[in-house]
Amino acid sequence: MRAIAVLNQKGGVGKTTTAVNLAAALARDGQRVLLLDLDPQGHATLHVGLELPEDALTVYDVFVRGAAIAETARMVTDRMAIAPAHIDLVGAEVELCDQENREHVLARTLGPYAEHFDYVIIDCAPSLGLLTINALTAAREVIIPLQPHFLALQGLGRLLQTTAGVRAAFASDLRILGVVMCMFERGTKLGQEVVRDVQGFLAAADAADPWYGAVVFETQIRRNIKLAEAPSFGKTIFDYAPVSHGAEDYLALAREIHAARVPADGELTRAARDARELLPPASAPVDPAMRPSSEGIGAAGGATAAAAHEAAGYAGADDARN
Ligand SMILES: Nc1ncnc2c1ncn2[C@@H]1O[C@H](COP(=O)(O)OP(=O)(O)OP(=O)(O)O)[C@@H](O)[C@H]1O
Ligand SMILES: [Mg+2]
Repeated sequence: MRAIAVLNQKGGVGKTTTAVNLAAALARDGQRVLLLDLDPQGHATLHVGLELPEDALTVYDVFVRGAAIAETARMVTDRMAIAPAHIDLVGAEVELCDQENREHVLARTLGPYAEHFDYVIIDCAPSLGLLTINALTAAREVIIPLQPHFLALQGLGRLLQTTAGVRAAFASDLRILGVVMCMFERGTKLGQEVVRDVQGFLAAADAADPWYGAVVFETQIRRNIKLAEAPSFGKTIFDYAPVSHGAEDYLALAREIHAARVPADGELTRAARDARELLPPASAPVDPAMRPSSEGIGAAGGATAAAAHEAAGYAGADDARN
């Protein structure tokens, strides 16, 4: 079983859209998938059209009452189940505080399902609280959705440092698998610059960093109105608009992720090696502002002022027709 957390503490970058449609794409390709909604907003739960009866058990009960995942999970399609969330999950952060081993509740409860699912995809809330820490101790892999915005790079450093902190504190072998560009507009200079900056940053990682060997996925998720509409119909993109850029992109992403594997310590993936070759030599390191710090990657990042201007006019829809 591969457990993958979809993580970014920044709101509205495409985490839920990615978690739901990646899970659905993997299931369409024959994988057995558990989608785990770890966000009190319950957006993944709504996205797959699940209306919970009042007394339904949810992920909250897993955290606070020791319920089994199986008691909460419901099948969405033949091969895809969801463990749903409800707004009461907000309270779990507080109630967990007094629990022993509070950072490992999810990892413990997922243990028995290793043989039942090929993938667990965890949709995280836009925060780095205790629920997200639980996602990071339960998952071995992380994917980070990123919107190619001038400010998008700012929080990435902090996010990566959090993964490093979890890895160090819990001696886990957590790895960043890659960054997926979401709501991407291919023709824009800004999009290309952000991709280049992130590639450069990842390729300059030390072997001890959890993002060593991580890549910017080749598949970019284009801005696509169908992806934005699908949740209000309670459908994944494959049920709502199977012939759309959104469906095409998430299927391609699923195949790329299925083919990728987390590198062993000290090993670089081929994609990461390719990215390294694009880099200046070690004597001329990537813009130092790109090193993560407590403030995150410097806003100066690498994206230029011109790109910032472009960001201001960023609202255009790439493919509103499709
Ligand atoms: N590729 C896309 N094209 C068009 N709209 C998109 C795309 N991806 C996501 N959206 C829309 O952007 C909004 C934010 O996406 P989403 O809910 O997936 O982000 P999130 O990171 O999960 O947000 P939160 O931090 O609140 O959990 C949603 O309305 C979603 O439908
Ligand atoms: Mg979300």
